[in-house]
Amino acid sequence: MTTRPYVIDQMISAKAIAARVEALATEITAHFKGTDKLVVVGLLRGSFVFIADLVREIDLPVEVDFLEASSYGNAMSSSREVRILKDLRGEIAGRDVLVVEDIVDTGFTLKHVVSLLRSREPARLEVCALLDKPSRREVDMRATWTGFTIPDEFVVGYGIDFAQRNRNLPFIGKVRFTE
Ligand code: IMP
Ligand code: MG
Repeated sequence: MTTRPYVIDQMISAKAIAARVEALATEITAHFKGTDKLVVVGLLRGSFVFIADLVREIDLPVEVDFLEASSYGNAMSSSREVRILKDLRGEIAGRDVLVVEDIVDTGFTLKHVVSLLRSREPARLEVCALLDKPSRREVDMRATWTGFTIPDEFVVGYGIDFAQRNRNLPFIGKVRFTE
């Protein structure tokens, strides 16, 4: 895959991410205190680094499951189709569910996933998103917990890709095209 040449400017350091993940996990642990039925659901693929760090800071018994959704723009309407490419392996009825997402952008993906999972009647369902770009929102959707609110920049690293690359960067950076 070739793209226009670009560089990545660091936006959020690995150290700042680690501190924020720890704080989020403390709030999540307090919220679900006493539960023995928590399932942490990572949305593939962008959340895989975040969920790995987050669950290790959550001081509760947890199960981990994954779901992969893909969205396609539809030029003919203002809505977007979201498809489930890989569903959960486990049942979530009556469970406490924490959905972990990398970025909330237009909000279509999260809105679709949350309404799908709610239809399965979990006891509680909350969302933790690493990044939020509120200026891009097209549907009313907010995570329960957000790591960082960022401006309308295309970001990579810490699990997040540009054309499938840069997921392995330990920090979050913005893509800047050089020509
Ligand atoms: P939404 O349905 O528009 O909210 O889409 C959110 C999804 O778009 C995220 O889970 C990412 O996979 C992707 N996305 C949005 N912004 C960026 C970005 O800046 N870099 C990489 N992927 C992004
Ligand atoms: Mg995603």
